[in-house]
Amino acid sequence: MIGVFDSGHGGLTILRGLRARLPERAFVYLGDHAHAPYGAREPEAIYTLTRGNVERLFSIGCCLVLLACNTASAVALCRLQQTWLPRLAPENRVLGVVVPTIEAVTAVPWHVTSPPEDAPGAPRRIAVYATRRTVESGSFPQEIARRAPALRVVQQPCPGLVDRIEADAPEAEVAAMIRGFVAASLEVLGGAAPDTAILGCTHYPLVARHFAQALPAGTERLDQAGLVAESLEAYLARHPEFNGPEFNGPEFNGPEFESQGPRAPAVRFFTTGDPARVDPLATRFFGAPAHFERLSETLS
Ligand code: DGL
Repeated sequence: MIGVFDSGHGGLTILRGLRARLPERAFVYLGDHAHAPYGAREPEAIYTLTRGNVERLFSIGCCLVLLACNTASAVALCRLQQTWLPRLAPENRVLGVVVPTIEAVTAVPWHVTSPPEDAPGAPRRIAVYATRRTVESGSFPQEIARRAPALRVVQQPCPGLVDRIEADAPEAEVAAMIRGFVAASLEVLGGAAPDTAILGCTHYPLVARHFAQALPAGTERLDQAGLVAESLEAYLARHPEFNGPEFNGPEFNGPEFESQGPRAPAVRFFTTGDPARVDPLATRFFGAPAHFERLSETLS
């Protein structure tokens, strides 16, 4: 199985993209709803929470885990990969969502960090909307600058937005918050429209319509779910060790998925929170039945 992790509901936007692109794969989704949101927590806490949840996914057989969370990817992933993983489970892999996003926006592969002068990318303005810790990590502007120095990157933290999405806040309230964040970013750009907007938090596509309304008409919105799915597909093609039967198939198909036909989603959902509270919102966000199991009840 491929593990997909987020602090809460946001990773479901990525999971939707993965399911569309890789329908034959078996996924396990884990939302750390008991500790969401992560975006204003101290980096050390984000690291510790992320590590614990990756370990849980490993313990139920996910040798490959995708952090479907920009905050965890920006703050914790590098340290996990460099110091923790080699000691705990050197054969396992943990991937994130920031790398494919940087590759897509720069059109430069991740391993190329000193592009030639005439590297792809005419001067363009990029607006990144993200959590406070993702912004503070500097991951997006730094990694973009290493690959496409001509791009101008403006970062806009959106404090409180994830809390309100997780709380299923009224549309008008969320829309007003987003209008304020977009207005602040446009001010930094001197009123110029960004060419591209990165919704650099996996929760934000859940309220994409409000970003679409608030952003100038010509601004393109990067589809992080689509490009992460494309990147994972390419990764899996390069890594046959993750192509065994345990990564495919209908292992998890239960009666709740029967209505969706023979290629029903092979997904199992876990939460550290209360499934009764998580299920209704998750089902709406996922666009298909999402029945969560409480993690502590399932794992020893
Ligand atoms: N959805 C996550 C992200 O992409 C985490 C947001 C949060 O928990 O604050 O950043």
